[in-house]
Amino acid sequence: MTDEARPSGACQVCDGRTTGFLDLGRQPLSDRFLTEADLSTEFFFHLAVGVCETCTMVQLMEAVPREQMFHEDYPYYSSGSETMRKHFADTARGFLEAELSGPDSFFVEIGSNDGVLLATVHEAGVRHLGFEPSGKVAAAARDRGLRVRGDFFEEATAIEVRASDGPADVIYAANTICHIPYLRSIFLGVDELLAPEGIFVFEDPYLGDILDKTSFDQIYDEHFYFFSARSVAAMAARFGFELVDVERLPVHGGEVRYTIARAGVRRPTAAVAELIAEEDAAGVAGLERLEHFATKVNGIRTDLLALLEQLKADGKRVVAYGATAKSATLANFCGIGPDLVSWVCDTTPAKQGRLTPGTHLPVRPASEFSSESADYALLFAWNHAEEIMAKEQEFRKAGGRWILYVPDVHLK
Ligand code: SAM
Ligand code: TMP
Ligand code: ZN
Repeated sequence: MTDEARPSGACQVCDGRTTGFLDLGRQPLSDRFLTEADLSTEFFFHLAVGVCETCTMVQLMEAVPREQMFHEDYPYYSSGSETMRKHFADTARGFLEAELSGPDSFFVEIGSNDGVLLATVHEAGVRHLGFEPSGKVAAAARDRGLRVRGDFFEEATAIEVRASDGPADVIYAANTICHIPYLRSIFLGVDELLAPEGIFVFEDPYLGDILDKTSFDQIYDEHFYFFSARSVAAMAARFGFELVDVERLPVHGGEVRYTIARAGVRRPTAAVAELIAEEDAAGVAGLERLEHFATKVNGIRTDLLALLEQLKADGKRVVAYGATAKSATLANFCGIGPDLVSWVCDTTPAKQGRLTPGTHLPVRPASEFSSESADYALLFAWNHAEEIMAKEQEFRKAGGRWILYVPDVHLK
C-alpha cells in the first residue's frame, strides 16, 4: 500500500501520527450478548488497527466509549477457567512473598473483576482494594468478602484512595491496562497512589505473540492497545517511570507481564533489553511486518470460510465452543452466522440463552455439547484448548473433530 492510501490518526499515548495496517470492518461490542429485543439497537463501530510512528504503540484507530463496554451486565467472569484461577493464585502468592511482607502492605488491583486474584491476597491478611466498574462482577467479588470500589481507576479516583488509604506497594492489573485508551490519566493516578519504591505491574496479550500466531481475534473493542516491550518502555519513560522487568506468560495465547517503577528506583533486569532486542530483530513494530500479518489474516478468513462452506455442503453438523469476546472479531470479519455454525456453547450463565454479537449465534450451556450434537467444533476459546480438550475427550473419541484457526486453519 502507498503511504497516501494508508489511513492515519493520532497516537493516544504520545500524539504522534498513527498509520493503519489492518481494517477489520464494522464490528459489534464483543461482550454484548443479545436478547431478540436487543437486535434492533445493536451498537457497531469501525475496528481498524494502526501503529504510532513515534512511540511504536500499536492501537485501535477508533475507541468505543468505556460505559458501552464496562457496565452492570459485563458478562466476563475471570474465575471461569481453572487455568486462570491457578495463574492468579500463583501470581498473588508471588507478590505476597516478594513485595507485600511489610507490616502494613497495601495491594491495589485495577480491573479486579470477580476477585479471582484478590481472594488470595485477602486470605493472607494483606490490605487490599480492587477497582471494578462493572457492577455484577464487582458484586461477585464483594460476596467473597473482598474490598472493591465500583469505579474506573483514573487520576481522580486514585487521588481519593491515596487520601483515604495511603500509598500502595503494588498496583496490579491483568487484561485491563490494554483496555484503557486514557493511559495518561492512568499513569497520573499511579503516580499519586504508588509508594516511592512501589511497583506498577500489568499483564496483557503480547504483540509479538499476536503477530507470530496471527491471532487477530485478539483485536476487538476492549483490546485498545497491543503492547510490546519497546512501546511500554517508551510509554513508561514519557510519564516519569521506567520499565524494570518483563516476563513472558503462556496464558491467553501469550502475554507479557510488565513491571514498572519510578525512574531510577529499581535496576532494570537483563530481560528488558533482551526482549526489546528480540522485537527489533523481528521488526515487530515495522509496517512491513504488520502488513505481512494483515495479509495472513485475510488468508485465514479465506481458508476458514472454504472449510465451513465445504462442511455445510457435506451436511456436517458444526458448532462452536466458547463464546469468547475474541470470537466476535473472527465471526464478524469472516461472516460466520447460524448458516455455517449452528450454535456456540459456553459455561457462563450470563451468556447462555442469548445471541452472540453481530452474527447472532445462539449460546447454549456447555452441557449440551457432545458428539451426538456435532461432527465439528470450531474452538473459539482456543486459548483454553488444553483445558477444554482434556474435559471433552469423549467428543474426539467418538469421531468429532476440532477446528482451529490459530496460527492457521487446521483440524485436530
Ligand atoms: N483482571 C481480570 C482478568 O484478567 O481476568 C479481568 C479482566 S477483564 C477482561 C477487564 C476488566 O477491567 C473488566 O472487569 C472491566 O470492568 C475492568 N475495567 C475496565 N476499565 C477499567 C478501569 N479504568 N479501572 C478499573 N477497571 C477497569
Ligand atoms: P476468554 O478466552 O476471554 O478467557 O473467554 C473464555 C470463554 O469461554 C468464557 O466465556 C468461558 C468459556 N469457557 C467455556 O465455555 N468452557 C471452558 O472450559 C473454558 C475454559 C471457558
Ligand atoms: Zn505514540
